[in-house]
Parts: sequence; C-alpha cells; structure tokens
Amino acid sequence: MRFSLLATWLLYGLLPVSAQDTSLGTVEEAFENANIPNTLHITFKPSVLLEVTFPQPSSPSVTIHAGEQLPRNATVGPPQFAVRGALPPSQRFVIATVDPDAPTPQDPTEAEIRHFLAGNFVRGATTGPGQRLVNETVPLSGWLQPTPPAGSPAHRYVFLLFEQPGDFDSQTFVTTNTSVSNFNISAFAQEVGLGNPIAGSFMLVAPDPSS
Ligand SMILES: *[C@@H]1O[C@H](CO)[C@@H](O)[C@H](O)[C@H]1NC(C)=O
Ligand SMILES: *[C@@H]1O[C@H](CO)[C@@H](O)[C@H](O)[C@H]1NC(C)=O
Ligand SMILES: *[C@@H]1O[C@H](CO)[C@@H](O)[C@H](O)[C@H]1NC(C)=O
Ligand SMILES: *[C@@H]1O[C@H](CO)[C@@H](O)[C@H](O)[C@H]1NC(C)=O
Repeated sequence: MRFSLLATWLLYGLLPVSAQDTSLGTVEEAFENANIPNTLHITFKPSVLLEVTFPQPSSPSVTIHAGEQLPRNATVGPPQFAVRGALPPSQRFVIATVDPDAPTPQDPTEAEIRHFLAGNFVRGATTGPGQRLVNETVPLSGWLQPTPPAGSPAHRYVFLLFEQPGDFDSQTFVTTNTSVSNFNISAFAQEVGLGNPIAGSFMLVAPDPSS
C-alpha cells in the first residue's frame, strides 16, 4: 500500500502538465489508499473517468486528479463535470459530493456532509478526449464550498457518478429542505436504487489559512 502510494506520487511528479486522471486503476487505487470505499460503505469499481473542474476567477480552470489537495479558495465552484470513456447506455446520471470528515477526520460526528447532489445530468459537448455532463434541472443540494474548521486536518471531498434510475425525480429521501449533515450516500444509493458508482474522484481541502 505504502509503496504503491509513493509510486503514484512519483508518477504524478513525472507528469507535470497532466492534472487529469488517465487510468481507472490509478483512481481506484487512490480511493483505496484514502480508505474511501470503507468510510463510505461503497463498492468502487469505476468504468469511466470522472473529471471535476473548478473554474477560477483569474486563472485557468483546475481539473483535479483523484486525491489532489486544493487550496480552499480554488473551490468556490460550482464544479463542472466531464467523463472519459464509454458511459453505460443510461440517458441520465446523478452526481453526489460528500465530506466524510466533518467536523474533523478524527471525530466525524456531522458526517457525511452533502456538498452537492443533483440528478438529470445528460451528455453534453465533447471536449478533446472527454464528454461534458450537463444538468438539466436545479440540484437537490447546490454546491457547498468546503469549509473545514480551523485546526482540522484536510478533509476528503468525494465526487461520485451514478446511473440515474427512471423514477429518481420522484424520490423524497432528500429534498431541497433536507439537512446536509449526517447524510449517508450509501444508504441513499440503496434507498433510491442508484447501484454502485460508475466513476468518481476526490480532493483534499484544508482550512483556509486565514480562518
Ligand atoms: C488563494 O490564496 C492564495 C494565498 O493567499 C493566493 O496566492 C491565491 O491567489 C488565491 N487564489 C484565488 C483563486 O483566490
Ligand atoms: C444546473 O446547476 C446549476 C448549479 O450547479 C444551476 O445554477 C443551474 O440552474 C442548473 N441548470 C438547470 C437547467 O437547472
Ligand atoms: C421546503 O420547506 C418550505 C417551507 O417550509 C415548503 O414551503 C416547501 O414546500 C418545502 N419543499 C420541499 C421540497 O419539501
Ligand atoms: C450508512 O449506510 C450503510 C448502509 O448502506 C450502513 O452500513 C452504514 O452503517 C451507514 N453509516 C452510518 C454512519 O450510519
């Protein structure tokens, strides 16, 4: 484990201009090394790559690779999404972002915090090797910028892509009024029949130095 994480870092070090993930195995391994499948009670065997991109006010957008740490002020969002690889035939997709480390990774009593949840993502324009995913409805939970409290280590913010079941729009387990705290993406996926995620990524964000 430790060796493979080191190898992953070395590999990134040798690929300075390629922020995006290019290998499903690398993403799966990054999830394992960060203990995300266990923490979230999910089975993570991605079949496509999920690209998560944060627009920046005065510099090029940032597309994360799985496990990358971003400064909090680069995560204003809302993020944009694209996939690389062959999507399953579903017409619509659900994207969720959760923080399992709130308020701290040592004592995550508020976890998971739901930072984003939206259905009705459809195939959009192709962008080089990728294909955009565009939402056709307002998110159930609009993007909530990471705000780990002062003194906390960095939190994991996990993005997951699911195929959308036909009756998703009539689910009532989460509405725009549902608290974002103490969410459980695994339980939600079971309740509404999302199945296992087909893609994912994650970033680390530490408290703002000024907080
Ligand atoms: C984020 O903060 C750092 C350090 O204060 C600063 O150098 C950088 O320009 C800021 N970035 C944005 C997008 O505000
Ligand atoms: C898509 O989501 C964004 C926020 O993430 C929202 O502002 C926009 O209205 C949504 N698009 C549609 C068509 O509802
Ligand atoms: C959310 O709460 C408001 C105010 O109580 C209510 O009017 C609205 O119908 C609720 N929306 C949903 C989706 O439950
Ligand atoms: C979340 O839901 C899963 C079932 O999918 C369950 O095993 C797990 O204990 C739940 N986690 C919490 C913190 O309740």
